[in-house]
Amino acid sequence: MTVAGNRNYIDGREISGSELAGLIERAEELRASRPIEGQSTLTGRSLALIFEKPSTRTRISFEVGVAELGGHPVVLRGDEMQLSRGESVEDTARVLSRFVSAIVIRSGSHENVVTLAENASVPVVNALTPMYHPCQALADLQTLRQRFGTLDGLKLAYVGDGNNVARSLAVAGSLAGVEVRVAAPDGYQLESEVPAFLTDDPIEAVDGVDAVYGDVWVSMGDEDTAEQRRADLAPFRIDGHLLSHARQDTIVMHCLPAHPGEEITADVLYGDRSAVWDQAENRLHAQKALLEYLLAD
Ligand code: CP
Ligand code: NVA
Repeated sequence: MTVAGNRNYIDGREISGSELAGLIERAEELRASRPIEGQSTLTGRSLALIFEKPSTRTRISFEVGVAELGGHPVVLRGDEMQLSRGESVEDTARVLSRFVSAIVIRSGSHENVVTLAENASVPVVNALTPMYHPCQALADLQTLRQRFGTLDGLKLAYVGDGNNVARSLAVAGSLAGVEVRVAAPDGYQLESEVPAFLTDDPIEAVDGVDAVYGDVWVSMGDEDTAEQRRADLAPFRIDGHLLSHARQDTIVMHCLPAHPGEEITADVLYGDRSAVWDQAENRLHAQKALLEYLLAD
């Protein structure tokens, strides 16, 4: 909650475990009733979708999702707005709140998204910052529930760079009863406060888990250190050797975009264990459930 009292979804901690379970339940209902039957929660409402960084899945799933719920998505690149010419985040929040029912934003500054939420009188949704990617984690939990029928007691090993996606998986996992382990080398690990088991040993991390999860080694904004990252993270590649230390029925997840041959081998990414396409589809269903929840009267 903010000063204005509206609901937000910025670091994923704004909802309780039972609300998270409710969102996943509703996302499954929305998936089952597609194409659309009686999904008109956003009729007459417009939403601003602001993307200061590239996006394929997040942008398209939000735009399609808002349209499927009967609303009107106003999609903006950061450089199209006066924000890029120095208008303050605070004033942008005040003005957008007069036009739209919610603001979805992907930004290179987590602090700016928090400031936007503090000054908006409509819900603000984090569509990825360098710190968090809560909408990705929400859809990933839906995917896990589809595959295993439950979330409680599942184990997931994130292997690679301890980044926004890893942090959001730890937060969402802790709300849902999923044990999250993060294997990353020294210098790439999450802070010790996150609700996850942290290790620098990928083989230890994947032992007995239900899912092994990967993300890019060079996130948006990390391009300057790309070569160093590729060298440091090479022992953390998700490949057949690593999976031989997991169970035979362990699934493989990746938020995409992937770089086959880099953080994950092509045979694993496109193989039988891969759940990545369901993960991508679930972005749509999970975000529709989230928007319904945030905009409920
Ligand atoms: N996984 C994800 O957020 O993808 P995009 O960067 O394409 O939105
Ligand atoms: N960690 C990646 C996720 C992309 C969806 C990034 O921030 O670029």
